[in-house]
Amino acid sequence: MTLEDILYNDHIKFILSGGKGGVGKTSCAGAMAVLSANRGLRTLVLSTDPAHSLSDSFDQDLTGGEIIPIKGFDNLWGMEMDTEKGMKEFQDNLGASAAGPEVEMATQFMGGMEGMAPPGSDEAMAFGKILEFIGDTSFDRVIFDTAPTGHTLKLLELPEILDSWLGKILTLRQRLSSMMSGLRSMFGGGEEEDTSWEMLKQTKEKIRLARIELQDPEMTQFVVVMIPEAMAVFETQRLLASLHAWDIPADNIIVNQLIPPNPDCRFCSARREMQQENLKDIRDIYGDMDIAEVPLFPGEIRGIDGLRRLGKILVDESEE
Ligand SMILES: Nc1ncnc2c1ncn2[C@@H]1O[C@H](COP(=O)(O)OP(=O)(O)O)[C@@H](O)[C@H]1O
Ligand SMILES: [Mg+2]
Repeated sequence: MTLEDILYNDHIKFILSGGKGGVGKTSCAGAMAVLSANRGLRTLVLSTDPAHSLSDSFDQDLTGGEIIPIKGFDNLWGMEMDTEKGMKEFQDNLGASAAGPEVEMATQFMGGMEGMAPPGSDEAMAFGKILEFIGDTSFDRVIFDTAPTGHTLKLLELPEILDSWLGKILTLRQRLSSMMSGLRSMFGGGEEEDTSWEMLKQTKEKIRLARIELQDPEMTQFVVVMIPEAMAVFETQRLLASLHAWDIPADNIIVNQLIPPNPDCRFCSARREMQQENLKDIRDIYGDMDIAEVPLFPGEIRGIDGLRRLGKILVDESEE
């Protein structure tokens, strides 16, 4: 599937833009968001990178962890995730107290139990956000501007980790609840209102659905952004190997910041030659993927006009 196929396939709900720091993930996420909105899709572009640059890219304040309409559009929204706020929401939703009175009590009683605390990290919270969009129809498309590779790999590992954590909690609750009801009847306590059990089971079900949606090539595509330099080639290999191992569809690579030919500049020509060598390696290794080439622009890519210009190259280039 070319980038154009992905962007203009209205079933594709999740697009993740990822790669090494500084290669152009945010610019590409922004450009893809603008293209999606122009196509008429209700689009949200969401940054899960703690080092946000979405506001800079759109030249509009998107901080504060709220979904904010992007100026000039009626179907495009942006959001930079607020790490602290999101973490609190995430832990309130999945913390020991949410896990239910039995687990909370057992956790306190035993002075905290190995593996019983919910995974607490930027990634866990970003994943919590993804879960909010599973089965939700407020947006036709959600584009994730992800953090550099290591963080993003942790994020994508989470369904597995959360699922097994929830499994443990649910088993523990099952064991404890019979004991608790025995105790309650002994001390004459009534049945406590408890909705957390249901919530945990719902969360487990959502994680199961998230896995299915994230692995469905008709719903999700991870777009790898890179620059044609050796370090980025290695990182791309690592990223793609993990995506492959987790069955996350990734059919496209954007090779960004290619230096255009300039015979009058020896420095530029030398750099261009180095880049072209690496580009050739990338094409050799990933012959079965679609590779879009984006030139280095004379200036920064900022604001809707810049993102539009980049978007045009993304869909034209992938037509070759
Ligand atoms: N093709 C390009 N030409 C010129 N500048 C670029 C290009 N791609 C990205 N940039 C600039 O490089 C910087 C980093 O890009 P960004 O998209 O924020 O990368 P990332 O999100 O991967 O850290 C930004 O200032 C952006 O405007
Ligand atoms: Mg960025």
